[in-house]
Amino acid sequence: MQCEVQNGDLLAVASDLAVLLYAEGESLPDVVTALCEPADATGRWKQQTIVYPRGTLSARRLLLIGMGKRSAITADTVRQAAALAAQRAQEIKVATYHVGFNGDLPLPPAVFGQAFAEGSVLGSYRYTRYKSDREEVPTANAVLLLGAGGDEAAAGVRRGQIIARATAFARDLANGPGNEVTPAFLGQTALELGERLGLKTMVLDKPQLIEQGFGGILAVGQGSANEPRFIVMEYGSADQGPTICLVGKGITFDTGGISIKPAEKMDEMKMDMSGAAAVFGAMQAVAELQLPLHVVGIVCAAENMPGSTAYRPGDIIRTLSGKTVEVLNTDAEGRIVLADGLFYAQRYQPAAIVDLATLTGAIMVALGPHAIGLMGNNQELANRLIAAGEATAERVWQLPLWDEYREAMKSEIADLKNTGGRYGGAITAAGFLAAFVGDYPWAHLDIAGTAWVEKPHRAYQSRGATGVGVRLLVELLQGYVG
Ligand code: BES
Ligand code: MN
Ligand code: ZN
Repeated sequence: MQCEVQNGDLLAVASDLAVLLYAEGESLPDVVTALCEPADATGRWKQQTIVYPRGTLSARRLLLIGMGKRSAITADTVRQAAALAAQRAQEIKVATYHVGFNGDLPLPPAVFGQAFAEGSVLGSYRYTRYKSDREEVPTANAVLLLGAGGDEAAAGVRRGQIIARATAFARDLANGPGNEVTPAFLGQTALELGERLGLKTMVLDKPQLIEQGFGGILAVGQGSANEPRFIVMEYGSADQGPTICLVGKGITFDTGGISIKPAEKMDEMKMDMSGAAAVFGAMQAVAELQLPLHVVGIVCAAENMPGSTAYRPGDIIRTLSGKTVEVLNTDAEGRIVLADGLFYAQRYQPAAIVDLATLTGAIMVALGPHAIGLMGNNQELANRLIAAGEATAERVWQLPLWDEYREAMKSEIADLKNTGGRYGGAITAAGFLAAFVGDYPWAHLDIAGTAWVEKPHRAYQSRGATGVGVRLLVELLQGYVG
């Protein structure tokens, strides 16, 4: 998908498909009204009507998409409408289509342009890598036609395209099956990304992890023939702006280990590296946007398998920090690999550490599929994330992290234990992570409920990985600029 902005009038353009977005209850040009039954063109949110002008307009088809009340239109309305348009264009196989808005733009042109590009790119995303019979569809071109504000909108479109492609990159990684997307594959992906975008990258393999004491990642990965990796991708440097560390859980497949999961839906656990995928996507976007910041992407990659070499319930392991962990359940592995990644992040003396992880089923119980769970030790950082969540519609909901939840993770025989019981499971998991960030401002994002959709909630999602976190992180990082 290629998006651009042109100066022009939708009613005059010669196009195979013209898409008119319009607010509810606002009058349409007479030539359009003449083509419609009034009931089919009320402007009700998501109402779609296609008409055939047959020479009354230069376009061969006109698709009307209702946007609902003007006062209620947000960036996400535009994102979803753009996705619907992209899908219709795909269905009827038009290579180039034109989109316009009836009347004045309801949002600043830059915001509108960014949302338009995000919706168009993500709305046409499909994971087709393993479909032998996939038809090669030519690249679609979405042209946004505007009378005014073209330059700002064009800048927004460029931004939106970068961010959406980074999100699609994250989706591809998280949709990738466990036999392809292994820890070594993630390491290779980091090296290639670094090469392409000029990032400083480091990938530690198993012997190096042993030598350097990454006891958490090693323990979780020891049951798998696909050996673990620790990955660092660094963009910019500390003298270029504030340092932000992004830490991603990269469990390439989570069987649960010896505390094995039930068979039903276990296949979905190929997405247990969605936090890592978000970090990869954010690194790509930040580098392409050339934000004046120092961003360090850290990925803790391992496969959680049962087997004769696997770690077991009752084991006590020593993490990179030196802190010991009593393993009560090998299925609570995410926090163990993150312990090493979070501790490692402290060496950058960052202004903020943000981790992303498909960490607990408990967050799905608490929030369902509509919000990312947020916990942390710094309200200023939490507020930034909440605001970024509103702006991107990757909504974030904060849960408390009182001392009691940290206390719940103390072990009788080691420094910590890796489970804190059934109740408050998402928060006690965060209470465990808190032990590894020192006093640095830190936020934990539990994306277990939002990383995967069986049925899309929004037109710009597709079945499977959502790429959640990429748009949120880019918005957060943009807030540190200037
Ligand atoms: N990867 C899972 C969490 C998860 C569940 C992600 C469903 C996405 C969808 C995580 O490693 C896990 O197994 N967590 C356990 C922790 C428990 C054993 C303390 C859980 O939530 O059941
Ligand atoms: Mn698990
Ligand atoms: Zn897991």
